Amino acid sequence: NTSGNSSSKKNAGYKAAEYVEDGMVLGLGTGSTTHFFIEKVGMRIKEEGISIKGIPTSFQSLLIAKQWNIPITTLEENDIDLSVDGADEVDREFNLIKGGGAAHTKEKIVDYAAKQFIVIVDESKFVDKLGDFPVPVEVLPDASRMAIKELEDMGAECEIRMAQRKDGPVITDNGNFVIDAKFDKIESPRHLEIDINTIPGVVENGIFTQMVDKVIIGTDEGTKEL
Ligand code: A5P
Repeated sequence: NTSGNSSSKKNAGYKAAEYVEDGMVLGLGTGSTTHFFIEKVGMRIKEEGISIKGIPTSFQSLLIAKQWNIPITTLEENDIDLSVDGADEVDREFNLIKGGGAAHTKEKIVDYAAKQFIVIVDESKFVDKLGDFPVPVEVLPDASRMAIKELEDMGAECEIRMAQRKDGPVITDNGNFVIDAKFDKIESPRHLEIDINTIPGVVENGIFTQMVDKVIIGTDEGTKEL
């Protein structure tokens, strides 16, 4: 997601790293804001010698973590103390749309499993009601045409997400397609989250409605917390 500027994203990401404590297992979200969080965690490991393990939500976050020598683990081996992740939209009740970077499936597994979940965004992500940003729906390629029909019946306009520097569709880290489903204002995020996942072949959608413990908003000057 390219909205917002990088100094506000950096302020949010760096602030979230202050909540990291020695010995924690961290969920490492994906995207340009989380990039700064992972970087700052890496700096703290180097400078303070704190002991941290990270569970990445994408190849992108795995690569950044490796660049900063953050030890990697998996959900098979560890529970997650704290997950930190960005979002494409946040409403007043802290429901989210995620998946602008096609990483929402692993993000949801990790973020929902975490004991604490902190969302880091800049002010451009706040909305009264979710829905201006299309809902990313990860789907098995073979199911995509039927899934689009069902999403259209639910009121969405759909597009298969196309790659920028490859011919054809975006392929997720899990080998699937992403349908971007544009609903009008989403009245009940929780119901829509559940309903989309009943479509055969849908792996996961980008509506997140589980408890968010804190939202850190980055601004040019610093951060605000909700
Ligand atoms: C990745 O698929 C997304 O869920 C990101 O977390 C979301 O798009 C936020 O990304 P930015 O921090 O780059 O805006």
